[in-house]
Amino acid sequence: MLACQRELFDIPREVAYLNCAYMSPLLRSSVAAGRGAFAGKLHPWTTTPPDFFRELEEARSLFGQLIDASSDDVALIPATSYGLAVAARNLPLGPGERVLLLDGSFPSMVYTWQARARDVGAEVVLLPRPADHDWTRTILDAIDPRVKVAALPVCHWTDGALLDLPLIASHLREAGATLAVDATQSLGVMPFDVQAVRPDFMVCATYKWLLGPYSLGFLYTAPQWQDGQPIEYNWIAREGSENFAGLTHYRDSFQPGSRRYDVGEPSNFVLLPVAIDGLRQLLAWGVENLYQTTSHLAARIVAETESLGYRAVPAERRAGHYLGLRRDGGVPDGLGAHLASRGVYASVRGTALRITPHVYNDTEDVDRLIEALEAFEA
Ligand SMILES: Cc1ncc(COP(=O)(O)O)c(C=O)c1O
Repeated sequence: MLACQRELFDIPREVAYLNCAYMSPLLRSSVAAGRGAFAGKLHPWTTTPPDFFRELEEARSLFGQLIDASSDDVALIPATSYGLAVAARNLPLGPGERVLLLDGSFPSMVYTWQARARDVGAEVVLLPRPADHDWTRTILDAIDPRVKVAALPVCHWTDGALLDLPLIASHLREAGATLAVDATQSLGVMPFDVQAVRPDFMVCATYKWLLGPYSLGFLYTAPQWQDGQPIEYNWIAREGSENFAGLTHYRDSFQPGSRRYDVGEPSNFVLLPVAIDGLRQLLAWGVENLYQTTSHLAARIVAETESLGYRAVPAERRAGHYLGLRRDGGVPDGLGAHLASRGVYASVRGTALRITPHVYNDTEDVDRLIEALEAFEA
């Protein structure tokens, strides 16, 4: 377990920020890195061609370390929808075939696969939420010869319900189907081993659990998809783009590995140093330690909200760091605003009050949450 790391952030004592799943605060050090990077463009003559690749490659490598992948497997994207569009462009899908998704999936997942299915005459199947939260069984039962793609999270973004992805992935492979994962709500705080799951594509935005900036994300692509089609054709993704003088010697060949899928202008001089600082800190803390620490705080919140009628997905079916509390009659209107008025920040998603702590939180934040919930009832 890690001690509270609040001093590395800028969170006033009277704020209980329990909303990492919405948007993490940046580390103070990341903001300093970003300020310095922004000022770099006061003097563009100091930016040389190798600088277009240096931080880009470092970010790729750090993200790779987090998931046990190589830099070659990682592309830089601006949003999860971009990475999902790359997956949808490349994963085989034909008329009458099926894409499996969870009901209540994050909208970008649904819209991406609905569009792809429409284009080829395939069908999107939204699997119903199981009453016992056993999504794994629900998915395994739905795999049949028509299923060609499953587009799944590590845990459900509304309530943290956990999927057994290694098991699901092996069943999909046996059935000749592929797997696209959105790991945005778990990577950085929950261990994930790409070698164990072996997804075909996996996306992750940086502005939540990667403690990174908005408008930056990563796309993992399995080696067998690294000769596919990107969704745009930018100069820097082509082989030899390091030689700025030779850019008009147009090439068909791409930079190695997943780099062909990088968004245009991937050398994001302002945001990359911010993302790199966050990734370095996560690796220094250790993701397993982060998971233990946040799970402990979340378990305390579950125990203390039970008497107020709130229920979480049972611990054995839930990602430890992630809570979506439900109660009979639903989340009362105005609860989110009431909490915010008392300096307590959480989200309402679907039918759940989503509470997602991080290592800047402590038991004083939990007390503040409980007091605010009790005051709402009074
Ligand atoms: C499951 C999930 N995926 C992705 C995102 C972010 O998507 P985008 O990168 O398009 O902002 C969110 C944001 O809430 C999310 O909950």
